[in-house]
Amino acid sequence: MSSLSPAPATPRWSLLHGLAAGRDFEGYLRRRAARSDPFAVGFPGFPAVLFTATAEGARELFRAPAALLEPPRPNPIEPMVGAASLILSAGTRHRTDRALLAPALHGARVRALGTVIRDATREEIHGGASGPWRLGARIDALAAARAITLRVILAAVFGPDPDRAADYGGVVTDFLAAFSTPLMVAPVLRRDMGGFGPWERFTAARQRLDEVILADIARRRRTGPADGDLLDLLLATHYDDGTTLTDTELCEQLRTLLVAGHETTATTLTWALYHLHREPGLLNRLLAELSGAGDDPAELARLPLLDAVCQETLRLHPPVPIVLRTVTEPLRWRGVDVAAGATIGLAVGVLHGQASIWPAPRLFHPDRFLDRKVGPFEFAPFGGGHRRCIGATLADYELRLVLATLLTDVRLALDPALALGARPRTVPRNLATAPDRAIHFTRTG
Ligand code: HEM
Repeated sequence: MSSLSPAPATPRWSLLHGLAAGRDFEGYLRRRAARSDPFAVGFPGFPAVLFTATAEGARELFRAPAALLEPPRPNPIEPMVGAASLILSAGTRHRTDRALLAPALHGARVRALGTVIRDATREEIHGGASGPWRLGARIDALAAARAITLRVILAAVFGPDPDRAADYGGVVTDFLAAFSTPLMVAPVLRRDMGGFGPWERFTAARQRLDEVILADIARRRRTGPADGDLLDLLLATHYDDGTTLTDTELCEQLRTLLVAGHETTATTLTWALYHLHREPGLLNRLLAELSGAGDDPAELARLPLLDAVCQETLRLHPPVPIVLRTVTEPLRWRGVDVAAGATIGLAVGVLHGQASIWPAPRLFHPDRFLDRKVGPFEFAPFGGGHRRCIGATLADYELRLVLATLLTDVRLALDPALALGARPRTVPRNLATAPDRAIHFTRTG
């Protein structure tokens, strides 16, 4: 029998730790990781987590038997995505749902979205004299990027239809804004307060989004299958026990795809634009690479410097900063015996900041991805193992094509205060991280 090595103790001063983590979550995890690996972190209202931030720890996490790992419950994002969401389902149900959705998010299906992605970007950029991208306008990069990535995920889920963005834009934005950080981290706030509390505002926003989704479901049921988009696949689901998805379950899966599928890419695009416009030499090299390339989406997506810029952005600002699993049976992990029911995880941002893997880790330096081959567990913006992001192929393709289109079609100037000032911090927000302040550009050409 192996000698029992207890997991590191969770810090006692959870309020103080909570405040430190709330002020700078990434920095807090970094300081804890510097002392030991693995390290325990307590979250008020949620189970403590035993984290790793090393490549070896990531390997052990992602190679552990899938049957022993489930998403943690309760889960802070459950009100957003719903219990039937792929993000929260476990076991056979998770395996079945993933196998069902995967064909629409890989290979030829994603490549077929190349033109849709380029068109969606151009529809937003050339949105007319009153549009957010008009010449001379001050552009909020995250809002502008979200409008583009929402169009793309809507096309992947429901098929291409430029008019659909108008139905979803406002309701999705309201829904995301209504799920405030306090609601996410303090379940005690999730209750009615006479019609005026944050929970009521959130559930009303969720209801409005679901109504728009349900209208799309009803339309598809009337018209019959389209061409194998994600909605077709979900509507055709038949489980082994003969059941199909209820409308609530359909809404939860679709909400998950819409939200997970556009917040993450929008925040990455925002950071990429920010860094490129802080470094004119790098931007010019990328523009030269783009000007020498054709207009073929598949060719654009393979450009080495463009690829390196996207990777480096995901390294420095991973939109999903932690990846968690609850173990269903006792597991020896990182040299300690983890009890059934305990939660283990990877601090992705801290792994991406390890100086032993990434020299000068705070620098935005895309060439590091050109200079050497990165090991599979050194870089994990999409998580790993049996729950690795199902949208990773689409996200990678989309990031490259949207960035290529934006940089070719418009000239931007970064707000002077941002161009010269300190770099904004990456902070958790809804399903994805975001810069801690708005990143503004002016369109100059
Ligand atoms: C830059 C963009 C994106 C990043 C960085 C990202 C990151 C992640 C991460 C870290 C996870 C958790 C993986 C794990 O637990 O090991 C995840 C899961 C997931 N992502 Fe993404 N994602 C992105 C884009 C997308 C897109 C475009 C979609 C939709 C098509 C999507 C849908 C999902 C879903 C449904 C899951 C749950 C998968 C499962 O549990 O089986 N994501 N993503």
